[in-house]
Amino acid sequence: MPKHLAIIMDGNGRWAEERGRPRIDGHRHGVNRVRDITEASAKKGIRDLTLFAFSSENWRRPEAEVRLLTELLMTSLEGEIETLHRNGIRLRVIGDLRPFGKKIEKMVAEATRLTRSNTTLGLNLAVNYGGHWDITNACARLLADIQEGSDSDLEIGHEALESRLSTAGIPAPDLFIRTGGEQRLSNFLLWQLAYTELYFTTTLWPDFNSDALDSALADYRSRQRRFGKTAQQVV
Ligand code: FPP
Repeated sequence: MPKHLAIIMDGNGRWAEERGRPRIDGHRHGVNRVRDITEASAKKGIRDLTLFAFSSENWRRPEAEVRLLTELLMTSLEGEIETLHRNGIRLRVIGDLRPFGKKIEKMVAEATRLTRSNTTLGLNLAVNYGGHWDITNACARLLADIQEGSDSDLEIGHEALESRLSTAGIPAPDLFIRTGGEQRLSNFLLWQLAYTELYFTTTLWPDFNSDALDSALADYRSRQRRFGKTAQQVV
């Protein structure tokens, strides 16, 4: 079982268009799958689930879709906090929340504080997130900490940078899933996915149920993870 699962939930728009419905309907159905996959992940003993909910590039979509999608995201999140907490889920939002305003920043900070000691599953929602942003931000924080000078041993290095990423403290994903048929990373967790197993499926996100998750997990179990070593070394 992967300890950390990361997912790009793609295909909501096409799912709705295939049914002659507005794209936002696809996103609404997508929220139901977020609930199912979170629950299934917790049951299976996955420790962390990281979901790409809104990328820093999604602002380029038509204004009405951006507005409806961000509203849906924030109302779903606000509406689910109690349930998440009751089920032992620890919430973390990764990404730049500033464009959403103080009220949303406060709501997320409170939800993070409320759930921070929960241990069943870490649910990490990437909102206004981009891998380039994450790495650039970590570099800026590291530079500021070096200049501030309180730790004279601090220098540019793997650990120093990694511990300043938005995912600090969370082990790298073991399995990455992208639904919807495209085969690319789309600026998601670029640093963190260095040794992650990649799984692509044509299933659209609103159809990605727990059976589809089981197929991805079965495929993952057939992989040999070598982390740079030879096959003989890892047997
Ligand atoms: C990609 O489908 C999906 C998104 C950009 C948004 C995903 C967001 C949700 C499922 C809501 C998440 C809610 C919570 C509470 C985490 P697309 O629109 O790119 O689909 P397409 O490729 O078919 O056009």
